[in-house]
Amino acid sequence: MRPPPIKGDQQTSQRDCPRLAVMASGSGSNFEALLQACRSGDPQADLVLLVVNNPDCGAIARAERLGVPWRLVDHRHHASREALDLRLIELFREARIDLVVMAGWMRIVTPVLIQAFPQRLVNIHPSLLPSFRGRDGVAQALNAGVTLAGCTAHLVCEEVDAGPVLVQAAVPVLASDTIASLSRRIQRQEHRILPLAVALALARVGPQG
Ligand code: GAR
Repeated sequence: MRPPPIKGDQQTSQRDCPRLAVMASGSGSNFEALLQACRSGDPQADLVLLVVNNPDCGAIARAERLGVPWRLVDHRHHASREALDLRLIELFREARIDLVVMAGWMRIVTPVLIQAFPQRLVNIHPSLLPSFRGRDGVAQALNAGVTLAGCTAHLVCEEVDAGPVLVQAAVPVLASDTIASLSRRIQRQEHRILPLAVALALARVGPQG
């Protein structure tokens, strides 16, 4: 599939409507939930770009179906994490992005990207941070035997999964839960809190100057 062109902002948004980009590696359900929320007017923002890091990512089909421009930035074609992040910054600057949302971006981002978007980089993580940082947050919670799991939307800082929390939602763990069943219930909460977190993040910083 060939990515469509990114439309000029005059055609897609009013100048004072903040412009969002989403970074995704997986199925893209959070991308779609955030897009629908923006299209319903809350948060008041235009989601104008999806970036994925692998060509098999399910988020691409969602972007095609929903008419959102997307770009592939394949980590395997970049010499370092910093080189990948520099390419992302280039795309975000071209598209005049105000806020970037990591919605299942399964790569560690570097200070290069974080410092280019200070307070403007939001991540969604499937645990009640600070518990269960890093990969497989849901499996970590199940293995630890907790009775309350959940998800966190937070600003990104240089320590992985450690930035200021914007919104959290708790999800009870059932005795019968598997990784799949608990992940499904956590994702339903992610879809609810991510738009709230984006609205909060935007209220803190406003449009990029
Ligand atoms: C989400 O559950 C998100 O919390 C998780 O990836 C999933 C992506 O789902 N992110 C992480 O684990 C980051 N450490 P989606 O592609 O359907 O939105």
